[in-house]
Amino acid sequence: MILVTGGSGTVGSALLETLCADGHRVRAAYRAQRDVDRAVGAGRDAVRIDLGEPATLPSALQGVETVFLVGAMGPDQTRQELNLIEAAAVAGVPRVVKLSVWRADEELTPIAALHRPAELALQASGLGYTFLRPNFYMQNFTRQFAASIRTTGRFAQPRAHAPISFVDVRDIARVAAHVLTTDGHDGRVYALTGPEALTYDDAAEVLSRLLDRPVRFVGLSDSDARAAMLERGLPEYYADALIEVSRAYRNGGAETVTTTVRDLTGREPTSFEQFVRDHRAAFT
Ligand SMILES: NC(=O)c1ccc[n+]([C@@H]2O[C@H](COP(=O)([O-])OP(=O)(O)OC[C@H]3O[C@@H](n4cnc5c(N)ncnc54)[C@H](OP(=O)(O)O)[C@@H]3O)[C@@H](O)[C@H]2O)c1
Repeated sequence: MILVTGGSGTVGSALLETLCADGHRVRAAYRAQRDVDRAVGAGRDAVRIDLGEPATLPSALQGVETVFLVGAMGPDQTRQELNLIEAAAVAGVPRVVKLSVWRADEELTPIAALHRPAELALQASGLGYTFLRPNFYMQNFTRQFAASIRTTGRFAQPRAHAPISFVDVRDIARVAAHVLTTDGHDGRVYALTGPEALTYDDAAEVLSRLLDRPVRFVGLSDSDARAAMLERGLPEYYADALIEVSRAYRNGGAETVTTTVRDLTGREPTSFEQFVRDHRAAFT
């Protein structure tokens, strides 16, 4: 039995789809009762948990062999992930696969600093563990930029010209499904990327070509980018963290391309072109 946390999120929902399609025994963990009700109504095993409320965790972990741990971005993320790790140890869960972040061990960004203590706690816990460390998600384009691309033909970010090896969340889900359902991954750390590194200008060129209309990347100063994020409704904490991430990788450091997706799944990772083709409707 595999428990997938963050079941309604970008990675968790893609992973649940993959695991269920392959017929694995899965329990989906949701924070919202309506999501639990919907899943149970569809004949699935689902539980409500709040990673911030340790009392909700023991019953969700009963009979679980492996946990896929997704922490939600926010100031409480580390504490919440530690709650799950502590509960998994008490429940005698053999293994936790943790969704982490690119170069988490170097703690170059506030996001990496949120993940690293949970990685260290898992390493010290005596539980089996695997870390998935994906680079920037391609799905950030659909989640954060699509509305602006649709209405203005532009997307804005803090100014950056260094390439990034964006990875498709569907590939992260395939890797996670493989790691969760096969042996030989204990103590392993997998850095996950797409097949190439692109600058935001390169990405704009691909979008323009495939959408048959001009799409332009607008590089903003950090303070303008922060103001724009707050205007879009991002919490201050999140906006500041994203600015720090841009600063950390502004001159490089996120361009490395790994072969991990292909090595583990036997499939080539999804290119940005394919991602845009598959999500054309979101951009038009
Ligand atoms: N975006 C990137 O480019 C990127 C790259 C590498 C790594 N990451 C990492 O990916 C992780 C986020 O994954 P994601 O994008 O799949 O997440 P997401 O789409 O933001 O979804 C977060 C999930 O966590 C759930 N959640 C929130 N608070 C919770 C709580 N207190 N207890 C239990 N569940 C809770 C949410 O439930 P509700 O639906 O009820 O809110 C949702 O299912 C972060 O740790 C981030 O650092 C992101």
